[in-house]
Order: sequence, then C-alpha cells, then structure tokens
Amino acid sequence: MRKKLVAGNWKMNQDYTSGTALFSEILTMVQDEVLGNQEVVVCPPYIHLSTLSQLAKTSSKVSLGAQNCHQAEAGAYTGEVSVAMIQSVGAKYVILGHSERRQYFGETDALLAEKTNTVLANGLNPIFCIGETLQERESGNFLEIIASQLKNGIFHLNADQFAEVVLAYEPVWAIGTGLTATPEQAQEVHAFIRQEIARQYNAATADNCTILYGGSCNPKNASELFAQPDIDGGLIGGASLKSRDFVDIVKTFNGR
Ligand code: 13P
Repeated sequence: MRKKLVAGNWKMNQDYTSGTALFSEILTMVQDEVLGNQEVVVCPPYIHLSTLSQLAKTSSKVSLGAQNCHQAEAGAYTGEVSVAMIQSVGAKYVILGHSERRQYFGETDALLAEKTNTVLANGLNPIFCIGETLQERESGNFLEIIASQLKNGIFHLNADQFAEVVLAYEPVWAIGTGLTATPEQAQEVHAFIRQEIARQYNAATADNCTILYGGSCNPKNASELFAQPDIDGGLIGGASLKSRDFVDIVKTFNGR
C-alpha cells in the first residue's frame, strides 16, 4: 500500500510568532484527532524550519519540508539555502518545481533535475510538482505538457532513486483561484502520470508512487478528491494556513 500524505505549503506567509502558534495548533490537533497512517508534512518558509523542528520532536506524525533549495552543495551563492542545511535542522522533504518557482523565478526542467539530484544525495525526499497552465489545458495538449515535465525533470532517476520521490499534480489554473479541478479531471491526470511512471520504470514503481493533488483543495472538496483511486493526498496552500481546515483535510484519511 502506497503512503498517503497531506502537505501544507505555507508559501511566503507567517512570521515567527504566528507561524509558531499555527504549527503548535496543528501538532495538538493532529495528535488528538488523526487516526490513520497518513503522513502530515508542513512546509514553512526556511527561516522557521529550525524552530518548528524543535516543536515537532514531540510528534511522531508531523514532519517538515522546505519549499525550495539550491542545486549546489555549498558555496558563494548569496541568499541561497543548501539541502545540507535543510537536512541539518531536521526537515525530511523539499518541494521542487512549484509552478510559482517555475513562473516567477524561471526554474526550468533542467534546473529541477539538478535540484532533485542534490535533494536525493542528501537523503531527503523531493515533493516534485508538475501541472499545466490554463492556456495549456484549453489547448487540449495538457497531457503532453505533463509527460514532458516528468521526462525532463525527474525521469533521469533510476528506479531506486525514483522510489524516494513524492509527486504533486498542481494544475496552475487551480492554484489560489478557488477553481478546483473536478475529481474526474484530477483522476484523469493522476492515472496518466502513473501510466507514464509504469512505462518509464515498471508497474510496481508506478503502484508505489504517492501522487498528491494540489490547487484550491479545502475540507469540503478533499474527500471526493482523495477518494479517487490514483490520488494519494494533497499539497495544500491557502487552507494550510488555518489549523482547523488543514487538519480537517488530513482527517479525510481517518478510517480509510
Ligand atoms: P492553494 O491551495 O492555495 O490553491 O495552493 C495550492 C498550492 O500551490 C500548494 O503548493
């Protein structure tokens, strides 16, 4: 059985005080209310990782992730953060290829392939994001876009390395817009992604890969989305900034 996972991407939100308070609430609610084996990951801005990691020591269910990293191991890259630093403060995951990084910071598939290698070399797990824009969806060739993001960003890995990767399908038109993909639209792409993994590697690798959905996911639509056979959890933006909403989304997997 592949792992179920819900990750919160705080993006560039929360200062020290509000971020610590939000995370503490999440820890308590997860401890009291989350019953299944689903994994909970919180991805705050880098600057909070160290503090939140100390708080997370009391929890066996909640782990931390970064939202980005630099591709080099270390060096003269003013303002950047290395994977070794992220690893050293206790985070387990690194989000890579978020559409906001692709769009606003010019991150290409080739750069993301390099970042993926660095994350894996340091023993962390990438949460690798892919997804089409509205224009690409409307043009009808969105599955080709998804296939090319997989091919050029992540399929250079061997099967053992790929087993460490969590994928996240985030249609760009659904991010922060309140426009969620329907469960059928999301399932279509998730099934396609799994088929591409099987073609590149093998059926077992495809079957074991955790594929998250992201884009205006909330406590109301999560259960229908997560009930789809190829959707294994969510990457949550806006709703992850409210402890009640985030933990309610996590609880979708209670009893499943
Ligand atoms: P929203 O949930 O705010 O649409 O954001 C999704 C996202 O980008 C998570 O990485």
